[in-house]
Amino acid sequence: VKADLLIHSAAELVTATGPGPCCGPAQSELRVIRDGAVAVVGENIAAVGTSAQLWSLVGANTKLVDAKGQVVMPGFVDAHTHLVFAGSRETEFERRIRGDSYLQLMAAGGGIMSTVRATRAASLDDLVMQSKRRADVMVAHGTTTAEVKTGYGLDTAVELRMLQAVARLGSCTPLELVPTFLGAHAVPTEHASARDTYVSLVVDEMLPVVIAPATGVAAPRFCDVFCEEGAFSVAESRRVLEAARRLGLGLKVHADEFGPSGGAELAADVGALSADHLAYCTPGGMSRLAKAGVMAVLLPGTTFGLGQQHYADGRALISAGVAVALGTDLNPGTCWCESMPFIVALACRYNGLTPAEAIVAATLNAAHAVGLGERLGSLEPGRQADLVVLNLPTHQHLAYRFGTNPVCSVIKRGIVVVGS
Ligand code: NIG
Ligand code: FE
Repeated sequence: VKADLLIHSAAELVTATGPGPCCGPAQSELRVIRDGAVAVVGENIAAVGTSAQLWSLVGANTKLVDAKGQVVMPGFVDAHTHLVFAGSRETEFERRIRGDSYLQLMAAGGGIMSTVRATRAASLDDLVMQSKRRADVMVAHGTTTAEVKTGYGLDTAVELRMLQAVARLGSCTPLELVPTFLGAHAVPTEHASARDTYVSLVVDEMLPVVIAPATGVAAPRFCDVFCEEGAFSVAESRRVLEAARRLGLGLKVHADEFGPSGGAELAADVGALSADHLAYCTPGGMSRLAKAGVMAVLLPGTTFGLGQQHYADGRALISAGVAVALGTDLNPGTCWCESMPFIVALACRYNGLTPAEAIVAATLNAAHAVGLGERLGSLEPGRQADLVVLNLPTHQHLAYRFGTNPVCSVIKRGIVVVGS
């Protein structure tokens, strides 16, 4: 059978293959083919090799993409986003520059609650429209799949509306979305004096409703909790995560973002798929993650966006044997960044990852961190044909350069959605 699409003559074809998420020394095994080619049939990859090896798959109807002098690699998987929200918080940004802290602004009723008010006030159409603009920018920067969290509704109706927005968004962008329920993102103002009532609402009302959604509402695959001083304690977080696990959801934790919250240890205890942020994760926390096989999702854009210096120690996590993935954390409070290439650049400078490790973290490992590592994140026969063509001579240039968009083509499910 002939290929529908052949991308050929790549200076470097990065395959990022592995039997599972890559950890330790395997995290830097990129597997690069020079003068590489990928043949696509329908939505899937049919063959990977050198251009010479794949030339026989060219037929009369094969679309050719010449990637001479360019890097071809799996599409980015953004393992952690809050892409669906309404409004913006640039005045808080200015206040943070003048010295207020994120947690101070949050305690004063701003922060997450400010976006909750805007999201509650937005219509479904408006929420979808505002989020679609960001999704389009993500795709333009090479992201083909993204996790997306709720957590700006904080009541049952608006949490459901966010999941409805995810479903609608999924049908009007090539970006594949993986929804996560984050009802425990903050205690909303109306429950401030009765935290337990809110945790009960999440556990007894929201979780059972969101896992059995009506048509047109996306069903979450994961449940996440913001485990941090000023958000949810370890005990409260554990209650939500254990309830979610009983309902069959995979688990994620916002852990150790602003201080050592005990979030990494909690993620290990409850058997979470990933612990995210980890800027203040202790060596003890790292070895607990490694022993329990919990992945780390690092979000250096958030540390950058907050203007902080304390980046997660990705080097130590890799040495401890934790499989490291990357995400943007795209959100209006700490990190309005749609660009995985920028995140890769930050991860290499501040998390201590090498370019090869960061690329695995942004593709194969990120796919595993959203539960789709068998189908996405790697260029291998049988996998979904999600890939990007970068106007760069070698993969190291992806990390080495920053601040401009290196993407010239994006292919999602075998269709060219950016470029030609
Ligand atoms: O990952 N930490 C909690 N959630 C986001 C921030 C959300 C917001 O400020 O709106 C984060 O940094
Ligand atoms: Fe987040």
